Amino acid sequence: MAKTLVVYFSRADENYSVGTVEVGNTELLAKEIIAKTGADEFKIAPVEAYPEDYQEAVACATEEGNTGARPEYIGDIDLAEYDTVFLGYPIWWGDMPMIVYNFIEKHDWNGKTIIPFNTHEGSGNSGTYEALQAAANGATLKGDGFNMTGVEARTDSGIAKLDSWLNELGF
Ligand SMILES: Cc1cc2nc3c(=O)[nH]c(=O)nc-3n(C[C@H](O)[C@H](O)[C@H](O)COP(=O)(O)O)c2cc1C
Repeated sequence: MAKTLVVYFSRADENYSVGTVEVGNTELLAKEIIAKTGADEFKIAPVEAYPEDYQEAVACATEEGNTGARPEYIGDIDLAEYDTVFLGYPIWWGDMPMIVYNFIEKHDWNGKTIIPFNTHEGSGNSGTYEALQAAANGATLKGDGFNMTGVEARTDSGIAKLDSWLNELGF
């Protein structure tokens, strides 16, 4: 039977505007989607962890973006049994993190529906849904996606907005 999956990348530790956190902003949204939909979960976790220090993490992400790196992640998931995939990530330098591209490029998206969601601190979705469509060959993107600042994702009212969006999508 066709199933729903939530795939996400999110970085905890010291981050922009939210201080040092144990759970990243995008992960909070991902966990709520999982709780509300009963979807399975795959977290894209880097083999080489990003630095806890924000400035060091930024330097690392900048280098990855400049070189078009494809950082490795731990484990993987077979998408065969899923027809719908929520895909979540933070905006890094106006783009998806390179590790998310790596995940997308390693999978066959033919016949899959992707529902994107992301957090940011001002850039919205930053055109990444178009980039996602281009990278996930054969997938259909559903809806307009969901984006929210990381700060708002950490509030009850932010989570309530996410719940409304899920309702509108029919979940
Ligand atoms: C390396 C890096 C680059 C970022 N670049 C942007 C950006 O271009 N635009 C933006 O609005 N926010 C940017 N941010 C802020 C993050 O998108 C925001 O804090 C997000 O909620 C982090 O999600 P996470 O906790 O799930 O990793 C950046 C953060 C980092 C660490």
